Amino acid sequence: MGLPQSGIFALGTSAHSVVELELLEPGAAGSCLAAIARFAIELNTTSGLNLVVGIRPSLFMRITDIPVMAEDFSAPIEGAEEFSMPATQSDIWLWFAAGSQDRAFDCARAALTPVGGAVRIVRATTGWTYQGNRDLTGFIDGTENPPVAEANEVALIGEPPRLAGSSIALVQRWRHDLDAFSSLSTPEQEQVFGRTKPDSVEFDDDRMPAEAHVARTSLKVGGEALAIYRRSVPFGDAANHGLLFIAFTHDQGRLALMLASMAGKTDGVRDALTRFSTPESGAYYFVPSFELLEELSSAG
Ligand code: HEM
Repeated sequence: MGLPQSGIFALGTSAHSVVELELLEPGAAGSCLAAIARFAIELNTTSGLNLVVGIRPSLFMRITDIPVMAEDFSAPIEGAEEFSMPATQSDIWLWFAAGSQDRAFDCARAALTPVGGAVRIVRATTGWTYQGNRDLTGFIDGTENPPVAEANEVALIGEPPRLAGSSIALVQRWRHDLDAFSSLSTPEQEQVFGRTKPDSVEFDDDRMPAEAHVARTSLKVGGEALAIYRRSVPFGDAANHGLLFIAFTHDQGRLALMLASMAGKTDGVRDALTRFSTPESGAYYFVPSFELLEELSSAG
C-alpha cells in the first residue's frame, strides 16, 4: 500500500482553513503544483498542522498521464422538485487543519505565497469544531463512519499499485437555515435525520422515514453497504454558516450515488435535510498518495 497523505486521518484538529484554487495559466499547472507539493512534503511533523492536497482529476491526468478512475464534478445534479446541486469544480483544493485558527491561517498564507500570482482563490472557508463532533444542527456527525482500523480500506485506493494510497474526495459546502431548522421540535428534527438528537441512535426500519438523511445515504449495492470516510467540518459565522462536507473514498461511484439519492434523482424522494440546508458548491478532487506528491514536487 502506498503512503497516504496523513492529514486524511489526522483527527482531533479543531481549526480548519480550506481553499479552492483556480489556475490562472494552464501552462503553469506543473510548476504551481510542484510548489504546493513541496510545501506539503516539507511540513514539519512537529508543526501541529496537517495539510491535504487535492487536484482536479482531469488536471492531474493531464499533467501526469496517469489515469485515476475519477471524474470532475462537471455538471449540476438535477433532482426532484427542481432541487439542484451545483457543480463548481476548481483546480486545486487545500485543507489545512490545526489545533488553533492562527496556525491554520498562517500556514494557508505561507502555502499560497509562492503561487500567489498563478492562482485565484475561488472559495475560502474557515471551519471549526462545534460541541465536540456535532453539526451546527446539534446532531452528532460521523457516528456511522468506519472505525480507525477500517478507515484506510474505505478511503484509500488499493489498486493499481501506481495509485495505491491515493484517494478521491468530495468537497461540498452546504449553507444551513438554522432558523428554519430550530423552529422544528426535537422529534421533528430527528425525523429529518432518522436518528435521535442527544445520542445519535438510528431509528428502527419501521420508524425510518423514506426521506430521512440516513435513509437516503445508507446505500447498499448487491447486499454490500457502501461506506465512505467523512471528515466534514462546520464552518462560518453568525450570518452564514453550515457544513463543509468532506468525504474520502476509493470508489467515486458511491459518492455520486449518494448525491443522486439525496437529490431525489433516483426515485423522486428528496432528502429532508435539503429543505434546511442548501449546497452552494460541489467538486471532486484526486488526492495523490505521498509518493505521487513527491513526484509532482520534482516535476515542475
Ligand atoms: C448538510 C449536509 C450534511 C449534514 C448536516 C449531514 C449530517 C449527517 C448526520 C448528522 C448523520 C448521522 C450520523 C452519522 O452517521 O454521521 C449523517 C450520516 C451520513 N451522511 Fe450526512 N450530512 C450531510 C451531507 C451528506 C452528504 C453530501 C453525503 C454523501 C455524499 C452524506 C453521507 C452520509 C452517510 C453515508 C451517512 C451515514 C449513513 C448511515 O449509514 O447511517 N451526508 N450525516
